[in-house]
Amino acid sequence: MAIVSSGSQGQDRRRSGAGSGQRLVDPQADAETAPRPEAAPEAPQAREDSLRPRRLADYIGQGELKQVLGIAIEATQARAEALDHVLLYGPPGLGKTTMALVLAEELGVRCRITSAPALERPRDIVGLLVNLQPRELLFIDEIHRLSRVAEELLYPAMEDFRLDLTVGKGTTARTRSLPLPPFTLVGATTRAGSLSSPLRDRFGLIQRLEFYGLQDLQAIVQRAAGLLRLQLESEAALEVARRCRGTPRIANRLLRRVRDVAAVNGEPLITAALVDQALSLHRVDGRGLDAHDRRLLRLMLEAYGGGPVGLDTLAAGLGEDPATLEAVVEPYLLQQGLLQRTPRGRLLTPAGRAHLDAQGAIA
Ligand code: ADE
Repeated sequence: MAIVSSGSQGQDRRRSGAGSGQRLVDPQADAETAPRPEAAPEAPQAREDSLRPRRLADYIGQGELKQVLGIAIEATQARAEALDHVLLYGPPGLGKTTMALVLAEELGVRCRITSAPALERPRDIVGLLVNLQPRELLFIDEIHRLSRVAEELLYPAMEDFRLDLTVGKGTTARTRSLPLPPFTLVGATTRAGSLSSPLRDRFGLIQRLEFYGLQDLQAIVQRAAGLLRLQLESEAALEVARRCRGTPRIANRLLRRVRDVAAVNGEPLITAALVDQALSLHRVDGRGLDAHDRRLLRLMLEAYGGGPVGLDTLAAGLGEDPATLEAVVEPYLLQQGLLQRTPRGRLLTPAGRAHLDAQGAIA
């Protein structure tokens, strides 16, 4: 039986530490989370990696998730077994990949990282599975985009640690089973509803990541400032926290933009006023909405009298993909009560109108 390993494996990059993350995806495949295999110092993914917490104790926020996973880790280690399969879902940037790497570190195993669009051919997933060591983690991002063949190969692999392969063609085709080591699949998705039920049912732990609260975000910004050796007043950290859409990835990105302005202005200490100056320059308003968010809300108000208006209509008006609008742009606006989903379409809320009024002519 010829098993050809995933073509992307030549791009492996090993990280330090027991629970190291090994990336296998094509960086072009997924702009959201896909890393660069050769992490140059300026690579965005490398920048994000440098601020990630490595251990559960350093991971700020997501209290319930940490509690559930902490118990599962302890129980699993006591039984000397592989951790049950974990599905993490929720809006982008909330720490799904980070949590997979933390799990690997806590379990003292390696984490192999890939993304569903990189597993197009059966041999891609077969190559990954047969190379796993006992109890290792396999992280599949955007798992709702798995091809049908890949998904069907995963069923017996997840359930019985067995790979069912078809060898030969036509009348000579036979199924051969290959034992796999016990492993943990960590799936991540922004669209849990798009997962087929047979796949979803094979995860023992299904956890939603929530938007972060202000205090947690402030602590995340302060931690990142420490790692970047920045002097930041606590009010300044709070101001970044207010404007990052409840999302650590955005908080860290905004902090870097603030750092640029501080450097150019020759300011050794970052104050709330400096954060305001820097983020206004990037058109991030006091609630964290950017020009794109405001364009969506304005379109609803000005072209559709506040709605209700269908998702596809809005997406077409913005030149945006409806799925991205729904999974990436809308969740924070919904959480902030600026937008409502109704059976008849999207509705701009009174708070959404008030926010646009308060922004006046700002684009
Ligand atoms: N950096 C990004 N996300 C984080 C988190 N949840 N805790 C600590 N630092 C972070």
